[in-house]
Amino acid sequence: MSVREARDEILREHADLRGLIAEIEDLLERFARGEPEAATMLHASAGALYTRFIAHLVLEDRILVPSLQDAFGPESAEPVVRDHAEQRAFLGYLMGRLGSNASPAALIANDLRQFLTLLGSDMAEEERMLEETLDRVPSRGRS
Ligand SMILES: [Fe+2]
Ligand SMILES: [Fe+2]
Repeated sequence: MSVREARDEILREHADLRGLIAEIEDLLERFARGEPEAATMLHASAGALYTRFIAHLVLEDRILVPSLQDAFGPESAEPVVRDHAEQRAFLGYLMGRLGSNASPAALIANDLRQFLTLLGSDMAEEERMLEETLDRVPSRGRS
């Protein structure tokens, strides 16, 4: 897969993830207003989002890392590999906190806010990096 094809697939996933983020932000507002059912929904959404993000990391490792390495050499994928290791560690920590059904909703809401911030800045940073990288791909490799 070319870097451009990998970029297009990743952008589609980012759009999906941004949809999920918007839903969860809405839920967080309802939780902050004290709506009782929002707490249960937050718990479920947090689990779904974490699982979805892990799948996203797997996809990026599968398509983005090798296409960067093919186009620019082994070290070119190092920032992505490093970021993903950090993100997996943070996700493991968050999922551990979520693990028990007894986790208080306020804790989950807090964790989710932190995670949404991480996710948003990761996607923006990755998209910036991908555009910069694509600028360096010779034009015959740009289709
Ligand atoms: Fe990533
Ligand atoms: Fe990503």
